[in-house]
Amino acid sequence: MKRPIGVFDSGLGGLTVVKQLRRLMPGEDIIYFGDTARVPYGNKSRRAVTRFSRENSRFLLSRGVKMIIVACNTSSALAFPALKSEFEVPLYDVITPGVRKAIELTRTGKLGIIGTYATIHSGAYEREIAKLDGSLTVHSMPCPLFVPLAEEGWVNRPATVEIAREYLLPLGGKGIDVLILGCTHYPVLKETIRLVLGEGITLVDSGLSCAELVREEMHPEAGEGRGSVRYFVSDMPERFKEVGRLFMGEEIPDVEVVVPGSERGALS
Ligand code: DGL
Repeated sequence: MKRPIGVFDSGLGGLTVVKQLRRLMPGEDIIYFGDTARVPYGNKSRRAVTRFSRENSRFLLSRGVKMIIVACNTSSALAFPALKSEFEVPLYDVITPGVRKAIELTRTGKLGIIGTYATIHSGAYEREIAKLDGSLTVHSMPCPLFVPLAEEGWVNRPATVEIAREYLLPLGGKGIDVLILGCTHYPVLKETIRLVLGEGITLVDSGLSCAELVREEMHPEAGEGRGSVRYFVSDMPERFKEVGRLFMGEEIPDVEVVVPGSERGALS
C-alpha cells in the first residue's frame, strides 16, 4: 500500500519544503501539519519545542506516514535527537542537508547563517559545520521578525526591506559568499534578501536541500499520477489557506483542524 510522507512545521514555513517535494517527487502523497496554534517556535525553550515536535510526530504517525520530515529548523535544532531516539520511522531534519550544500558551494570558506533565536543560540549549525569541515568560518544572525512577516505574507513591503537591511547588512560585510536560510519560513523572503545582500552571495534554501536529499535516499513513487497533499493545522485554517498560497505557489484546497497531543484527530 502507498504510504504518505509526513511533514511538520510550526506554521506555514514547512510548505516551502512541501513545494520542493512536489516538484522533485510528484508521485508521492504528503500529509502536512502546521502547528498554527503554537507558532512561533523560535523564541521558545528546548523543552517546549521538543514536546510540540513529539506531539506533531505522533499525529503524523497516527495517519500512517512512512517517514517524517522535520521541516522546521528550530525543531531540527532543538528536538531532533529526542525524536530520533523515540520514533522508528526514518526522520529527516533540515539542518544537515543545508550545511552540506553550503560547504559544497563556498569558495571563501566564510558561511553566513540566519534563523530564529532558538536555532542560532542552540549552536546546532556551528556543530554540524565543524563536524564536516573545521576550517570554515561561520557568522550567524538571528532574524526573529522574518517569521511573523512571512506568516503575514509581507514578503516585499518597504518595511520588510528595512528590517532585512538591519539584520543582513552587518552579515554582508563579513566576506561571506554563502548564506544558509536556516528557517523554512525564509525562502519566501528570498527576493528581499537578495535585494539587500546583492547577487554575490549564494542563498541556500535548507528546505530544497532537504527535499533533494530525501529524493536521493528513497525510491520515489513512480507512475503517471500526481500524489495528493492533505493539510492539517492546529488553528486558523482559513488564514493558512490564504497565506499558504504564497508559500506553495498554488491554491491550498482543504485544511483540517486537529488538536496535537489529544488523540481526537480531525475536528472539522
Ligand atoms: N519555520 C521554522 C523554522 O524553520 C519555525 C519558525 C518559528 O516558528 O519561529 O525555524
